[in-house]
Amino acid sequence: MKIGVVGSINMDLVIRTNRIPSKGETIIGDNLIDFPGGKGANQAVAISRLGENVTMFGCVGRDQYGECLIQNFKDEKVNTDYIREIDGVSTGVAVITVCDDDNSIIVIPGANNCVDKDYIDSVKDKILEHNLIILQNEIPMETIEYVVDFCHENGIKTILNPAPAKKISKNLIDKLSYLTPNEHEVALIFEGENIDEILNKYDQKLIITLGENGVKFLDENKEIVKVPCRKSNVIDTTGAGDTFNGAFCVGLIHGKKLSGSIKFANIAAGLSTEKFGAQSGMPYLNEVLEEMGGEL
Ligand code: RIB
Repeated sequence: MKIGVVGSINMDLVIRTNRIPSKGETIIGDNLIDFPGGKGANQAVAISRLGENVTMFGCVGRDQYGECLIQNFKDEKVNTDYIREIDGVSTGVAVITVCDDDNSIIVIPGANNCVDKDYIDSVKDKILEHNLIILQNEIPMETIEYVVDFCHENGIKTILNPAPAKKISKNLIDKLSYLTPNEHEVALIFEGENIDEILNKYDQKLIITLGENGVKFLDENKEIVKVPCRKSNVIDTTGAGDTFNGAFCVGLIHGKKLSGSIKFANIAAGLSTEKFGAQSGMPYLNEVLEEMGGEL
């Protein structure tokens, strides 16, 4: 069983401060550190650490950050064979301010915008070798729709983690196997709609992550349930959503039911917040299983 990630690859430039500056204000930060990031890349690393084969489909610039991020994937045992290096375009960058246990992020997509239909056409045969494909909103929407159409036609399951928040079409939602918005994303996508009604309408397709309030979904018994979040010693929440999504893929690929996959993902996400940097705290399989007190 193989999981593929079609998505973004960024270098995160992380500044720790004691508060987020207001408009027009200058404040002093504690330090600036580079970390590998990007929602797609983070999800790929989370999947790999949890013991699954994973292929990253995406683009970086032919520059120092690109080189460093490809090496990071190799160190993390993520398949990099189909990452395209683009001349004359910079690798994606995210400027992240971390303050208390929250963050704010500005993304400069750079080469992530080169994940286009032409790139997908060049890797279609490889995508077909996968059983589950996960995407996020940091590559062009046209590409997301193209990949989901292709996977739908070929019986490959898809998950869209619609982050950062963007409107998406009903047609796209219909073709997805799972949609995993947070509370802000769900409010934008289903503007004005009642959450419980849409959870029932998109029967077991919609998984809403609520940060410290846990995860809400319609379970196998057609009941709306809320899984509370793990009590963690939070250092940095950056990448917690990505860990959740990566771990959710791992649960599904192991044939776990929706509720079991969500429980597994929730613990992994909680563990990931206990270190600084998006990928630093991502747990390995044994750490999650230890907490679950069982097998995957
Ligand atoms: O979800 C966290 C990620 O969002 C960061 O790693 C950053 O690169 C942005 O894409």
